[in-house]
Amino acid sequence: MSILIGDTAPDFTADSSEGPIHFYDYIEGSWAVLFSHPKNYTPVCTTELGFTAKLKPEFDKRGVKVLGLSVDKLEDHAGWARDIEETQGVALNFPLLADTDGSVARKYDMIHPNADNSLTVRSVFVIGPDKKVKLKIEYPASTGRNFNEVLRVIDSLQLTAKHQVATPVNWENGDDVIIAGSVSNEAAKAKYPEGWKELKPYLRVVPQPRD
Ligand code: BEZ
Repeated sequence: MSILIGDTAPDFTADSSEGPIHFYDYIEGSWAVLFSHPKNYTPVCTTELGFTAKLKPEFDKRGVKVLGLSVDKLEDHAGWARDIEETQGVALNFPLLADTDGSVARKYDMIHPNADNSLTVRSVFVIGPDKKVKLKIEYPASTGRNFNEVLRVIDSLQLTAKHQVATPVNWENGDDVIIAGSVSNEAAKAKYPEGWKELKPYLRVVPQPRD
């Protein structure tokens, strides 16, 4: 069964490069990113894990716990982690799950039999503190993901969880935002006393709320 945005993220227990992890305990109260990659000791995955490790301070700033998933064995993770450090200039600094029986990958629908029967595709799940799936992205094995985009979506999700706004095309943190359609002009006047730019009654633009 596929996991869709708004669904509860399935719980699991698995070994990882940082010891056994009970997912719900691990992410309790935090945002989380769970992402799969097809295989250890492959070039694209090596660059993705290195880059994600470099972004760790950015994830920390946003209160996000990052977890990688591989269907390879735990013993293999240690040697590959050394290669990641050597080639990408940064040590692995988040847990890499060893989902050798594929049970987590199946729960999250990360194995697409028509792509490959045993390896995971490149899935990314962003999970909120309420344990609901907020974002799901899937890439093919041959295409490395853009983890800056994952951070950008987290910024949007965290902003829109707090304020009744939506973020427009190519929005980056700090850009103008759109007042949600559910907010009446009367309510908007109270929240945005300086007013807004009304391009259409349904397209009302304001500076990004700061608090
Ligand atoms: C890679 O990570 O480089 C990769 C993995 C599986 C298939 C193709 C490329």
